Amino acid sequence: MKAAVVGHPIAHSQSPTIHGHWLESTGIAGTYEALDLHPDAFADEIRALVERGFQGVNVTVPHKEAALALADTTDETARRIGASNTLVFTQGKIQARNTDAYGFWENLAPSLTGQTPKRALVLGAGGAARAVLVALQDAGVQDIVLANRTLSRAQALADELAVSARIEPLSWDDAESLMDQQMLPLIINTSSRGMKGENPITCTLAAQTSQTVVNDIVYNPLQTALLQSAEVRGCRTVDGLGMLLHQARPAFQAFFGGRVVVDAGLRHKVERRMGLV
Ligand SMILES: NC(=O)c1ccc[n+]([C@@H]2O[C@H](COP(=O)([O-])OP(=O)(O)OC[C@H]3O[C@@H](n4cnc5c(N)ncnc54)[C@H](OP(=O)(O)O)[C@@H]3O)[C@@H](O)[C@H]2O)c1
Repeated sequence: MKAAVVGHPIAHSQSPTIHGHWLESTGIAGTYEALDLHPDAFADEIRALVERGFQGVNVTVPHKEAALALADTTDETARRIGASNTLVFTQGKIQARNTDAYGFWENLAPSLTGQTPKRALVLGAGGAARAVLVALQDAGVQDIVLANRTLSRAQALADELAVSARIEPLSWDDAESLMDQQMLPLIINTSSRGMKGENPITCTLAAQTSQTVVNDIVYNPLQTALLQSAEVRGCRTVDGLGMLLHQARPAFQAFFGGRVVVDAGLRHKVERRMGLV
């Protein structure tokens, strides 16, 4: 059995480490490789992998929208998110799935102590925010404030993705004031701010308490400035690495048929490979 992750560039991808760990732990006879596919050749290269008997591929930047467009069928979540991170090949056909919303929620849920918050503040309105907004609504969050540096992008995303929740667009500055003035049960950073090489999020979270859960989906660094501020306030904090690990589980199962878990051994392996510890 053969699977791969495809992107351009691809050297940064942790998927070979994650799937390699699971192939080893399950003893399944399979291979998982990283393939750098140029956008101009994407569709042809994917069809060639189908012909070569691959079970499927994980898809990363910049191919997630192209993957959705290429597929013969699309699952409901990928359609709503508007992008696919997993292509599954069955009997010569390509099915587009998206497991980012699943990975996000699996990582966050244990910190919510069994209760879905009614309200959440989401920072950022890029590709990752789409999966987060879908997951929050599926989990029953009813009131979402969506803040973005470019307000028009938050407005457009709110218009497109609001189904079961109210999504209120907000400017970045107003979101910083909100975090200082009003206790929020859940704050999620989906923007690239705080990522290695980008400006950190330096707000003080003055109104947040131990009742607030703060999740930064950025995982490099693991402990972002936002999570440090949250810890100072006594909030529960969740880093982004678990989302990356959990989104891979349904893909592994689809490619190789094995049930796998995200455990400390896998997490440490990825942390070491990325130089995070
Ligand atoms: N943990 C995981 O599994 C996982 C999965 C996916 C992504 N991520 C992380 O999530 C982050 C975003 O990824 P993405 O795919 O959504 O990227 P993207 O589509 O390029 O979107 C980037 C977002 O960040 C905002 N932004 C960028 N620089 C900013 C700044 N200086 N101040 C305020 N906002 C800023 C952008 O705002 P504008 O609209 O104003 O440009 C936009 O909302 C990345 O750090 C990525 O590594 C993590």
